[in-house]
Amino acid sequence: MYSPLITMKFRGMDLVSIRDLTVPQMNRIMDVAEGMVPIAKGEKVSKLLDGKILATLFYEPSTRTKLSFESAMMRLGGRVIGFSDPKSSSVAKGETLADTIRMADAYSDLIVLRYRNEGAARLAADFSEVPVINAGDGAGQHPTQTLLDLFTIREEMGEINGKNIALLGDLKYGRTVHSLSEALAMFGAKLSFVSPRGLEMPAETVENVEKIGTKPLITNCLDDVIADADILYVTRIQKERFADLAEYKKVAGSFQVNTELLEKAKKSMRVMHPLPRVTEIDPEVDSTPHALYFRQAFNGVPVRMALMALIMGATE
Ligand code: NCD
Repeated sequence: MYSPLITMKFRGMDLVSIRDLTVPQMNRIMDVAEGMVPIAKGEKVSKLLDGKILATLFYEPSTRTKLSFESAMMRLGGRVIGFSDPKSSSVAKGETLADTIRMADAYSDLIVLRYRNEGAARLAADFSEVPVINAGDGAGQHPTQTLLDLFTIREEMGEINGKNIALLGDLKYGRTVHSLSEALAMFGAKLSFVSPRGLEMPAETVENVEKIGTKPLITNCLDDVIADADILYVTRIQKERFADLAEYKKVAGSFQVNTELLEKAKKSMRVMHPLPRVTEIDPEVDSTPHALYFRQAFNGVPVRMALMALIMGATE
């Protein structure tokens, strides 16, 4: 198992990459998130972040990440400013990311940024005094998705260590699987990377998980892993990241999780997906006990509440 230096400092930290967190810190976020569930459901009222302002700057489309951050902040008594269409901001007049970040820094207590280029969140963190949370930087990382994925696996399976986790789909451009595989390796999970040819996990990520201590099984064939998997984590082919649409068309629709495939899986196997899905999970799977993806999406609220409360120093 990965054994980082034990540090529990959260107050004021940026979260750019999942490597910014230690295993004890991730466990702490999940523990705090557990206590946030009744607030996330609206069953309990909280004023924990009363007076705080969150800025959500989304330069790329989002449903779950943006709405769950906003819901989380409001459920904790804080408020939200921001944009989901940069064309409605001074970005349309040619303002740089650095200047937009300087403004959000002046107007808020915490910034959540989604941007099309890898490294954008690190740059934003350098320009901002207030903490910056990466909500996806191109094909880079998506650390808060990873936290809610870990929380969902822990909630469903009791623990992460030793579980067989198969990541399926566009492992090249999918940022969720880049951060998730590193975190799963830190928790001691067994990993399989299953992708269409040409969309394999980047060598850097494979190296990183190997350095942490897990040797992933790498294959283009789902049949190699389906029978042993405890979790099948499905991802969308990231159409918007292909330079050449003809290349996308070659792989589009090349795999689908359906009830026929699930007959080969363990009864207890669960299907996860960061969503949005296109054709990679047949809607007939939704009503089977295997489907975990809608609960996973809900978990974005308590997990992001916990993270913001810790970073704002409202909880220890
Ligand atoms: C993902 C993303 O934006 O990386 N969505 C999300 O945040 N839940 C996955 C995707 O777009 O395929």
